[in-house]
Amino acid sequence: MRKLFKNGTVVTADSMKPADILVEDEKISALGENLLCEDAEIIDAAGMLILPGGVDAHVHLDLPMSGTTSSDDHYTGTKAAAFGGTTTVIDFISQDDHDLFKNIDAWQAKAAKAAVDISAHANITYYDDKVAEQLKDLPKAGVTSIKVFTAYNGRLRLDDGNIFKAMRVAGNAGILTMVHAENGDVIEVLIAEALQAGKKSPIWHARTRPGWGEVEASLRSQALGIMADAPVYLVHMNVAGEVDQLAYTRERGLPCMGETCPQYLFFTEKELERPDGAKWICSPPMRTEADGARLFQGLENGTIQVLATDHCPFFFDGSQPILYEGQPVAIPGKELGKGDFTKIPNGLPGIGDRLPVFWTHAVDKVLISPSQFVALTATNPAKIFGLYPQKGTIAVGSDADLALWDPTLKVDYGVRVAQHRTDYNLYEGWQLKGFPRQVFLRGELIVKDGHWSGRRGGGKLLKRKSGEIL
Ligand code: URP
Ligand code: ZN
Ligand code: ZN
Repeated sequence: MRKLFKNGTVVTADSMKPADILVEDEKISALGENLLCEDAEIIDAAGMLILPGGVDAHVHLDLPMSGTTSSDDHYTGTKAAAFGGTTTVIDFISQDDHDLFKNIDAWQAKAAKAAVDISAHANITYYDDKVAEQLKDLPKAGVTSIKVFTAYNGRLRLDDGNIFKAMRVAGNAGILTMVHAENGDVIEVLIAEALQAGKKSPIWHARTRPGWGEVEASLRSQALGIMADAPVYLVHMNVAGEVDQLAYTRERGLPCMGETCPQYLFFTEKELERPDGAKWICSPPMRTEADGARLFQGLENGTIQVLATDHCPFFFDGSQPILYEGQPVAIPGKELGKGDFTKIPNGLPGIGDRLPVFWTHAVDKVLISPSQFVALTATNPAKIFGLYPQKGTIAVGSDADLALWDPTLKVDYGVRVAQHRTDYNLYEGWQLKGFPRQVFLRGELIVKDGHWSGRRGGGKLLKRKSGEIL
C-alpha cells in the first residue's frame, strides 16, 4: 500500500523545506517536490509541518517500585507516546536475574504488546565476572546501552570500582554507559536524619537529595568513563552544576553526552510543598528556576544532546479508578507514601507531553528552531542509541514514522487530553500551541485528531547497533 504525503513542509535536523513524501512497504521511498504516484493514497498535509516521529530515549513501562508498578505498561505507555507524536521509545530492562539474557527474554515478552516501536537499555545493578562475560555480548541481542546508578544504596547502586569495570567492558564492546548520577551515601545519611527528626513531607524528598551530590557524581561518572576509555551519557540532568560538568568534558573533546527532561525545565522543588506535592516526586527531584534556565540553555547551545521524559507514572490516588478504554482501572500509586516521602513511588507521567509542551515553550517562543527541536527529540537520540537513520529522520530508506504537526493548533491540555494511564497530568490547564494532528508508524495511521487507530502489539521490538558519539 503506497501513501503520498503532499503539500507539507518537511522538517529534519538539518533543514525545513516543502517536500512530498512517498511511502511504500513501511519505508520512505521518495522525497521531493511535486512527486506523483498514480495508485497511492494521497494525504494532504497542507499547512502542516511533517516531523519525524519522536524518539523518547528514557521511559519506564510496567516498572515495579515501592510495592506497586508504574501505571503505564508497554501498550498503554506507547499508545500515550503516539498521541504526543512519539513513535519510538527506549525502556529499561531490570537486572532481576543476574543472567542478562534471561532478563532480555522476560522484557521482550512484556514489550510485545507495544503499540509503537520499542527497544531497551539494560540496567546493570549487579556485577561480577559472569555478568562481564555476558555484557560484552549484549550487542548481539541488539542492546547497545546500559544504565548504572551511583545512588539507591543496597538496591541498584554499583560501587565506583564496578562501574569502572562495567564501563571498560562496555566501551570495548561498543556499548554506551548511561549514568544515574546522585551521591547515594549522602542521600542515605540525609534520609535517615530527616526521618529521625519526623520530617516526612514530600519537600524532604528534594532536601535529602542535594544538587551538589549530582554535580559531584556527574563529574565522577564522566571521569570514570574517561579512565575506562568509554563514552558516558548522563540521564535526567536537573541541576545547573551538572551542565557545567558536562560542558567541562565536552569542551575538552571527551565522549560525554547528556539528557534532560521537560519537568526539570518547567517546574521547581516548590511544587513539592503543594498539598498534592507527591505528584511531582521523581528522582532526581526538580530544582530551582535558575537550574531550569541553565538546562534550557544547555539544550539551546548543544551542551545537552537529548530531551527525553523519564516517563514513570503512578496514580496520585490509586484507590480511585479511572476509566481507561472504557474499563475502570485503579493501580496503587502515590497514596502509598502518605505521611512518609520515602514510601512515595518515584516518577511521573510525561511520554505524551514531551513534544507539545516543549514545542510550545521552545519553538513557538522562537527560542529553539524547528530543526533543533527535531534534533533534540528525535535525531540525536536515534543517533546516540544506534537507531539512525532507520529512526529519527525523514530520508529515503528511513521508516515512515511521521507526525503531521500543526504549529497553529491550540490545545487546552491536561489529563483528559493526555492519554497516560494515570489520574493526573503535570501540565493541567496549560494552553499549548503546536500539536500533532496525525501520526503514522511505519506508514500506518495510528492517531488522527485525538482518535486512536493503532494496535496493541503494532510496535516492533528494535535491535540497535552501536550508537554515535555526538
Ligand atoms: O523517579 C524516577 N525517575 N523514577 C524512575 C527511575 C530512574 O532512576 O530513572
Ligand atoms: Zn535514573
Ligand atoms: Zn529513569
